[in-house]
Amino acid sequence: MVAGTSQRANTTSELNGLLFKYKLAKFLTFLSLAAVITMTLASLVFPENVQYFFGEAKRSDKNHEDRPPIEKNSGNKNDGIKTDKQCRLPTSLFIPKSNDGQYTPPGPHASVLKALAFVTKDDYDSYCQHWDPAKGFDDVIPYNVHGECGNWQKKYQELHERRLEQLERLKADDIESFSHDDIPVYVSYLCKEVPANSNRGCGGLADRMSGMISTFFYALITNRAYLAHWADENPIPLEILFEQPNVNWTYNPKEMKSLFSSNNNELLSFQQVDTLNQNYDGLGGIMFRDGVSQDFDELWNASYIEVRSNRAYIVRTFDHSTRYPEEMKTLGLTKENAFGCIADYLFRPTIGARRYINAYRELFSLKSVLSIGIQIRTNDQALANPQNDDNNLEKWFYYFKCANEFAAAKKAPHHQRIVYFLVTDSHKLRDEFEKMNDDATLRTKYLGPVSSEITSTVVTNLPLEHIEPDQVAKYIDVEIPVEVSRERMTPGVNSALIENWLLSYTDFRVISPQGYGKMAAFHSRSDRSTISLPRLPVRAKALNCADPKVLGFYDFSWLSHQWSLG
Ligand SMILES: *[C@@H]1O[C@H](CO)[C@@H](O)[C@H](O)[C@H]1NC(C)=O
Ligand SMILES: *[C@@H]1O[C@H](CO)[C@@H](O)[C@H](O)[C@H]1NC(C)=O
Repeated sequence: MVAGTSQRANTTSELNGLLFKYKLAKFLTFLSLAAVITMTLASLVFPENVQYFFGEAKRSDKNHEDRPPIEKNSGNKNDGIKTDKQCRLPTSLFIPKSNDGQYTPPGPHASVLKALAFVTKDDYDSYCQHWDPAKGFDDVIPYNVHGECGNWQKKYQELHERRLEQLERLKADDIESFSHDDIPVYVSYLCKEVPANSNRGCGGLADRMSGMISTFFYALITNRAYLAHWADENPIPLEILFEQPNVNWTYNPKEMKSLFSSNNNELLSFQQVDTLNQNYDGLGGIMFRDGVSQDFDELWNASYIEVRSNRAYIVRTFDHSTRYPEEMKTLGLTKENAFGCIADYLFRPTIGARRYINAYRELFSLKSVLSIGIQIRTNDQALANPQNDDNNLEKWFYYFKCANEFAAAKKAPHHQRIVYFLVTDSHKLRDEFEKMNDDATLRTKYLGPVSSEITSTVVTNLPLEHIEPDQVAKYIDVEIPVEVSRERMTPGVNSALIENWLLSYTDFRVISPQGYGKMAAFHSRSDRSTISLPRLPVRAKALNCADPKVLGFYDFSWLSHQWSLG
């Protein structure tokens, strides 16, 4: 964009580009005019200042004087103590380096310890039991300990292993050996390279997980072995992001496709299914072709199906299918738990990520703590051009207004502290949000007089990155392009993953309407615990998030009609 502007604009494509920019400018002028009018009208209905929502709060720091002093970082990472009798956390949490080049996150953000300074002694002690002087933090995220995810896991694992064994025989062309077998069937989720000239990328983490988890759901129903693959550079191999706690879903797309396309015997047939960017009706036409009684076994008959998808249909199947909800219930899967139970069965964050997650997760689940996740997606600009980031608390105050109302409605007597956990694509907003811990004036202004006394603000210190930067670059003028290398993208993709998992572990959530926050809602296995704020600020500001009807409205069924569906 900088050099050689004078020699430019003489090719047709550049002229087209200029024409497009001109049209865009015209459109934007119109848009800002419309915005001015809307804002003028809105200011008649809604006050500009957040003080309206909380009244003229008098600053009262009485309770904060009782806060235990937060020790300054002594620089000694092992200054915590853990014996049979005593457990005291160090002055800064750290995560030890993971093995052989595996991802290692930074030590958890200081706001975690700041929040812990206010919990009950019992809660502090129970949190401290998960800390370890050598390992940094516990690395186990419990799964299905009390049967909350049903009873299908072992049976599926056996099926999967049998299918992989059958695959080896197919590769060896040992067809005779199948005379006593059922026909081995497979389905894979495939994310290809970022296409150069189309808008058919795999999408961000939520899009991909929607496609991946729904494809497994289909596999479980149809007794297919489930496989998954991300193109190596888009942005990193799936195997670097996730461990495989139960089944090995690694496969080679070229090899599978060529084996099953060979057409030389009845056991081998290949079919591609593409539901990328389908809307609600379009996806319904594909998955429920014959209506609500659709038998998934009859949808596609090839022995190997390769799926490309950024869309989900699990909640929808529970809501509309006349065939599967009963069948799933016998497996222990419901509309509420299916997404989370499948996601955690297939994909486990790597060890460093798990330790980082647990340092927050254990805080969010303390008895004396009411934890509320707030996810503010500003726009792709803040990520694409962070140097121009102009986001701040004032601009997004209505998210905190909603969280404050939500907290007031949900706070039970045993909740002595409220923890707000912010996930956002703006570094600037994240920093300002965390500053509220140490700035009572800011707290009173944005958290209101009641919440500000008892609320801690917690954030991560992970780098923020869009997981498909090349795709974003197609519609945003990126001033400083992101270099898509494995070194650069591994921390970025892990950040998106960790923050999303953390959002799912808070008690409640206030989210932006796009797919990312919704995925955390589904992953939480807790319906009616998330409020998805309307995209239009005017409408978002008008919501009373203390009203149970609001919470009831944004349930899983409603969420499953939005964006990447559900
Ligand atoms: C999973 O399967 C792939 C492909 O067959 C193989 O290369 C890999 O070693 C397996 N991984 C594990 C952990 O067994
Ligand atoms: C799948 O169904 C189509 C259409 O009904 C049929 O033409 C094709 O032969 C079938 N393929 C297999 C492998 O059964």
